[in-house]
Amino acid sequence: MRMVDIIAKKRDGHELTTEEIQFAIQGYTNGTVPDYQMSAFAMAVFFRDMTDRERADLTMAMVHSGDTIDLSAVEGIKVDKHSTGGVGDTTTLVLGPLVAALGVPVAKMSGRGLGHTGGTIDKLEAVPGFHVELENEEFIRLVNENKIAVIGQSGNLTPADKKLYALRDVTATVNSIPLIASSIMSKKIAAGADAIVLDVKTGAGAFMKTAEEARNLAEAMVRIGNNVGRKTMAVISDMSQPLGLAIGNALEVKEAIDTLQGKGPKDLEDLCLTLGSQMVYLAGKASSLEAARAKLLEVMQNGKALEAFKTFLLAQGGDTSVVDDPSKLPQATYVVDLPAQADGYVAEIVADEIGTAAMLLGAGRATKESEIDLAVGLMLCKKVGDQVRRGEPLVTIHANSRDIEEVKQKIYNSITISAQPVEAPVLIHDTVTR
Ligand code: URA
Ligand code: CA
Repeated sequence: MRMVDIIAKKRDGHELTTEEIQFAIQGYTNGTVPDYQMSAFAMAVFFRDMTDRERADLTMAMVHSGDTIDLSAVEGIKVDKHSTGGVGDTTTLVLGPLVAALGVPVAKMSGRGLGHTGGTIDKLEAVPGFHVELENEEFIRLVNENKIAVIGQSGNLTPADKKLYALRDVTATVNSIPLIASSIMSKKIAAGADAIVLDVKTGAGAFMKTAEEARNLAEAMVRIGNNVGRKTMAVISDMSQPLGLAIGNALEVKEAIDTLQGKGPKDLEDLCLTLGSQMVYLAGKASSLEAARAKLLEVMQNGKALEAFKTFLLAQGGDTSVVDDPSKLPQATYVVDLPAQADGYVAEIVADEIGTAAMLLGAGRATKESEIDLAVGLMLCKKVGDQVRRGEPLVTIHANSRDIEEVKQKIYNSITISAQPVEAPVLIHDTVTR
């Protein structure tokens, strides 16, 4: 087999065989297929697309390019959730304990990474003492006992995807449905998921700018998952403005604590209930999505969801007294209200711009070497559609430096106030089941 023939076949719009796809991915992983051939291949896929069968084969070829996590010692159906980007997205922190409280095993492998705020592990480290340095046996034992544990990323998962994603980034081939869908799904499957729930974001803060594009990606991923034997569902949700009110690490932990008790922002709660219902249903713990939602509401109200969060934190060294007294979480020195400059209605809060403002405060990493400040971030006081009076706080800034002029300007630039009433955006555009 020769890579040049595979490229030509795809260039001419033909369907590749399983063996041809495996040849390309294995060769690229071990270096016998060079970057220039893989670039041409990615561009051919970009223009010619892939059939469902090719997409499933590409996904599994990437899964098998490196290590896979064996969660067979964890009892029950392991459901993983993935969100495609977003700003101040607190759903992971809420969903873990929420579904664990219903007996759904959450065996989460998480990373730190770059972004507006930290990754899930960074956020959890706002809880004093909490750590993710667990031996594998300990990790499995905790998931079986408590139904939830989080461990740091280890091993060599989907090296083909790492290499290919970096190559796509510099060859204008990121924005291709078969390539994005196989990239995301390969990582979830390699991490041991039996079933997968996807939260595909749409809007200014998201990868997919329109609901239409997001639906195409969601459907592609749901088909891949089901075609390779992982029950998969998706939600298409709005990220034109940030989800919830908190953007920052300790601030999001506090927001998660509130939401686990049904006292969080309504949009965050609603999305967590929708995604959580799919997780509970796919794990076989409820007979319908509606029944799953009712059970989730029950554990929010009877304290079991919060209890699951405490048990989880305690098992990994965390000081659970922060749950009852969130003022024990890291606090910023300066807490400054940013006043509205006009009367009117909030028409726009550009999610990625606000996220960048939080990052400038130190809430996220601009480069791999940056240190995160867990205490800093932003609390939105208004969301799109809310009425606002001149001088009323729009956003509360939590900073550890007095020098926040640039941040203030960035926030003002990202929020538009209109004289006319504005409708709040729809949060959940759609759900995709098989
Ligand atoms: N996120 C991924 O993990 N892969 C892509 O290709 C795009 C977004
Ligand atoms: Ca949030």
